[in-house]
Amino acid sequence: MGKFDNKRIVLGVAGSIAAYKAVSLLRTLVEEGAEVSVVMTLAAKQFVTPLTFEVLSKRSVSTDLFSESETMPHLRLTESADLVLVAPATANTLAKSALGLADDLLSTMILAARCPLIFAPAMDGEMWDHPSVMEHTQVLRGRGVTVMEPEDGPLASGQVGRGRLPSEEAILNTVAACLSRQHDWAGQRVLVSAGPTREPIDAIRFITNGSSGKMGYAIAQAAAHRGAQVLLVSGPTNLPSPANCESTSVVTAEEMQQALEDKFSWATVLIMTAAVGDFRSRVVAPQKLKKDEWAGESLDLERTPDILASLSKQKTHQILVGFAAETENHVENGRKKLHQKTLDLVAVNHISGPDSAFGNDMNELTILTKAGEILHLDRAAKPLIAHRLLDVILPLALHRALDTPRISNLRSL
Ligand code: C5P
Repeated sequence: MGKFDNKRIVLGVAGSIAAYKAVSLLRTLVEEGAEVSVVMTLAAKQFVTPLTFEVLSKRSVSTDLFSESETMPHLRLTESADLVLVAPATANTLAKSALGLADDLLSTMILAARCPLIFAPAMDGEMWDHPSVMEHTQVLRGRGVTVMEPEDGPLASGQVGRGRLPSEEAILNTVAACLSRQHDWAGQRVLVSAGPTREPIDAIRFITNGSSGKMGYAIAQAAAHRGAQVLLVSGPTNLPSPANCESTSVVTAEEMQQALEDKFSWATVLIMTAAVGDFRSRVVAPQKLKKDEWAGESLDLERTPDILASLSKQKTHQILVGFAAETENHVENGRKKLHQKTLDLVAVNHISGPDSAFGNDMNELTILTKAGEILHLDRAAKPLIAHRLLDVILPLALHRALDTPRISNLRSL
């Protein structure tokens, strides 16, 4: 039994000197049972001949968008693929994919692909650090694409830096993790809240916070990729709605509460990433308040509803996941929140200093479970953190399924 039996992988090879390492990678993938189709760019052919890949994959290698034997190779290649792996991925391939450019077979196929994508970059360290490469990497990661970190070490240029193709072991582990995550959330109904809330003071002023919504959107996107039905309830953000999720926009904490309560009985898992404002103005002026109309310099505030605590009291079968934003004593404060709101799991965001989770593309989490487990997820791009968090929540959700009233099953028999 191979690790990748019956898996269909498209291996994209771009024009980097590291293309020779794709030969060994292909060999291992095939030895592990995968059916691999190789697509090469013209530049890649300067480094390794297609024949090498053809012999090892036992399939013809595609390089030409306008092949004489086939009209739409870019569509055929990914039609039944489980995964597209681009190794090595050059700065050019990353840029084209981020921008949606499609001027050769590999880039056109990437644009047409609906299966998960992994990029294993290889380039000179100065290129990897270039703002445009960083930007394209961020764009791709923001869309849920896995862009691996290249490794540190000696580079073809003679320099030492970060830019080496990730090791074969790291690539294979990433492929294995990606394949095992496919459809593992099928059957789950996930309610995710994200972003800040906004509490009006008058017609134009409001109280809000700096939450970007990126973590919640990444979780919604990742759960949908993994087969869950997802409803995202979001406060005001600048983010596009994630693909394959139903989205509802709200503004205030009360609206968020209403939207979540409406769907709570439907959900199997609630993930409350929203930074719900804790206070709102007791009185909201319908017009813009003139400066001289302010009664003194203080606002009369009242508490907003604690949505999570109130849903927790209505819990029947749902797994409840809360987030906590803490500057210090992460474990202690997280544990308090876990008990106060009777949660199954709490994920503590670290929000102090320049690496604060707020608005950042990266995050690290300390996770505490009801069973007393503590787990630390090291700093990584939010989409990756989202997947790791879902890995931790999934066993709880599956266990819940075993514990849920069998009566309903019996009734349906
Ligand atoms: O109490 P605290 O704000 O630290 O708790 C954070 C968790 O509770 C988050 O999951 C947040 O979404 C949720 N929360 C809520 N309603 C509030 C405040 C926070 O549901 N009013």
